[in-house]
Amino acid sequence: MVPGTGEGETGMTPLRIAIINGSTRTGRFGPMIVDWVAGAARQRADMVVDTVDAASRSGEVLAAADAFVVVTPEYNHSFPGDLKKLIDAHFTEWQAKPVAFVSHGGVSGGLRAVEHLRGVFAELHAVGIRDSVSFHRPWNWFGSDGRPESAQAEIALKKMFDQLTWWALALRDARAVRPFEA
Ligand SMILES: Cc1cc2nc3c(=O)[nH]c(=O)nc-3n(C[C@H](O)[C@H](O)[C@H](O)COP(=O)(O)O)c2cc1C
Repeated sequence: MVPGTGEGETGMTPLRIAIINGSTRTGRFGPMIVDWVAGAARQRADMVVDTVDAASRSGEVLAAADAFVVVTPEYNHSFPGDLKKLIDAHFTEWQAKPVAFVSHGGVSGGLRAVEHLRGVFAELHAVGIRDSVSFHRPWNWFGSDGRPESAQAEIALKKMFDQLTWWALALRDARAVRPFEA
């Protein structure tokens, strides 16, 4: 970010990314992962970051976003009900925008939750990003500094962000030229 200008180093208006925490239960692990993802996003010149909790209603933040990162646990082979409520409470906010996924779970790493989310977001005319980041038993990976003890995770997150920003730019430009009509 070029200080005071609201623009990235390239002169491009930064993409507004909403990072959504899908878990709401007491004692949840999700916020640790959200903080790591948001911290990495804030290091990038091409993004400005908002965080959204599935328990809150956040229509204005979702509407303003150019792209989304959904951080989701897996509950009984799918994603949490409160996350579904947040998704279903909005429609145009998701349209013609990309969605990336960071998942966590027991043995599954949350991958079954992500596969279910892909179908839901396709129905909403959102574009699911191919590469995701997943953690099986995340409490074994994250240290007291709030970062995963895994270089692979950092690499996977960067790759996911790079794909997300490509789509976010392409779709932001496209929406500006021709508003999306479902
Ligand atoms: C109600 C519930 C159901 C779960 N079901 C699964 C599951 O089907 N597969 C799996 O791998 N992990 C499962 N888990 C483990 C969670 O995905 C894992 O602990 C995750 O990190 C929890 O995120 P949270 O602490 O943010 O809620 C379940 C946990 C809960 C609380």
